[in-house]
Amino acid sequence: MKLLLTDTQATLNLGIVLGQTLIAGSVVLLEGDLGAGKTTLVQGIGQGLGITDPIVSPTFTLINEYSEGRLPLYHLDLYRLEPQEVAGLNLEMYWEGVEVTLGIVAIEWAERMPYQPRSYLQVHLTYSDEGHRQAEITPFNCTINKVIATL
Ligand SMILES: Nc1ncnc2c1ncn2[C@@H]1O[C@H](COP(=O)(O)OP(=O)(O)OP(=O)(O)O)[C@@H](O)[C@H]1O
Ligand SMILES: [Mg+2]
Repeated sequence: MKLLLTDTQATLNLGIVLGQTLIAGSVVLLEGDLGAGKTTLVQGIGQGLGITDPIVSPTFTLINEYSEGRLPLYHLDLYRLEPQEVAGLNLEMYWEGVEVTLGIVAIEWAERMPYQPRSYLQVHLTYSDEGHRQAEITPFNCTINKVIATL
């Protein structure tokens, strides 16, 4: 499914719907070039979950956790890692809820993952004409909420 995101607010709105509707254990794998809007989408997810803390890029911290919303949000950014380094991180603990509370896992630069969860939503963001963005959303072993089709 493809969506044209004409401005930053449109990217936020897509994230808000995801944050309002995704169930515990959902994984959103974000792909796309530098500046394509991945962090913006996660900021929307945070809003949709009811998180008021500012959501900042975890490029250096690797993971930021937010617990004040409807569900915990685990926001990861793999930009600085090689696939073999990612393999050692035990990322599945976040989507399996091992030693953490099951929540929403959003991963930027998911292209760097050597393996994927059994089910996830892939969101590929690309630059479009006139500075707009396009999101291609592909569900793997899960469904896309109908509300997204109305955006
Ligand atoms: N649909 C859109 N149209 C135009 N600009 C947008 C859109 N969505 C987000 N932006 C803007 O693009 C810029 C980069 O966004 P963002 O930081 O979310 O990208 P990113 O993919 O996380 O970047 P990085 O690769 O550095 O992690 C921001 O200024 C943001 O406001
Ligand atoms: Mg980012």
